[in-house]
Amino acid sequence: MATQTRYTDLGFVNAREMFRKAIDGGYAIPAYNFNNMEQLEAIIIGCVESRSPVILQCSGSAIKYMNQTFLKYMAMGVVQMAKELGGNIPIALHLDHGDSFDLAKTCIDQGFSSVMIDGSHHPFEENAKLTRQVVTYARSRDVSVEGELGVLAGIEDKVASEVSHYTRPEEVEAFVEKTGVDSLAISIGTSHGAYKFKVKPGEETPPLRFDILEEIEKRIPGFPIVLHGASTVVPKYVEMINRFGGKLDNAVGVSEEQLRRAAHSAVCKVNIDSDTRLAMTATVRKILAEKPEEFDPRKYLGPARDELVGMIKHKNESVLGSAGKA
Ligand code: G3H
Ligand code: 13P
Ligand code: ZN
Repeated sequence: MATQTRYTDLGFVNAREMFRKAIDGGYAIPAYNFNNMEQLEAIIIGCVESRSPVILQCSGSAIKYMNQTFLKYMAMGVVQMAKELGGNIPIALHLDHGDSFDLAKTCIDQGFSSVMIDGSHHPFEENAKLTRQVVTYARSRDVSVEGELGVLAGIEDKVASEVSHYTRPEEVEAFVEKTGVDSLAISIGTSHGAYKFKVKPGEETPPLRFDILEEIEKRIPGFPIVLHGASTVVPKYVEMINRFGGKLDNAVGVSEEQLRRAAHSAVCKVNIDSDTRLAMTATVRKILAEKPEEFDPRKYLGPARDELVGMIKHKNESVLGSAGKA
């Protein structure tokens, strides 16, 4: 493995200061997943243009896909690009759903400024022990750590669960105290992926469990809370994908209104991956269907990147409230 790299040398910041400002200001920091160059560029351009702080995040499998070393230089490149675009916005590089101490350590050693250790599928004590081990290492490098209590349905990288288990508010104080985490991901009714709720067309989605969130806030006032599975599964893109040869039946996400409410609460980090995938896939499908003679990747990935910039700006400006806060 390559020599160690500190995140400050790459131009990243950890998430602590971002969270403090977001909680005080009643907004949420967007945490967008990426897997390739076009997604990464779009996230940065969208956040620079809306002057939003941002958390760039990738899962263990995304890191494998990109290659850890290549990812480091690509991430360093976008920090530089942001500056050249005139936006000195705070940018964190975060491991999403880290499933082992070794993965978290490798990321910290390779320039990540923030890591999630997801022990949520383990019993409480085991989760706390693993999380504490990561916090101890991360602290020595001033890297922020996100833990998770409660299980989301859907796929969390290698961890898949059929059903969700809401976070038990009575466990949060002890978990935060025992582990020393900087933020806590909770389960209040969202799930990963494009099929979040079983509703018939035209029906409203069930509300998130804000009562659980309020109970958690009472027990750990002012503590940064993270909402995973927060894609709205943008209907426009689902419709485009289906129109141009795809098959996404009954794909539904969280409503923007529910996300706005969450962003005003102790939720200060909102994770979005599926919407990014949908925006790109919809654009690529449309272009290839309409121009079957096209085979230059720039001609479909370029417009997909532009579409994504627009989606990111919309989320920052009209849903999360992070625009103008950088
Ligand atoms: O929460 C999971 C993220 O959407 C990452 O998904 O493991 O397919 O990269 P992935
Ligand atoms: P979505 O599948 O709703 O985009 O959730 C992404 C996520 O939580 C990444 O950790
Ligand atoms: Zn997640």
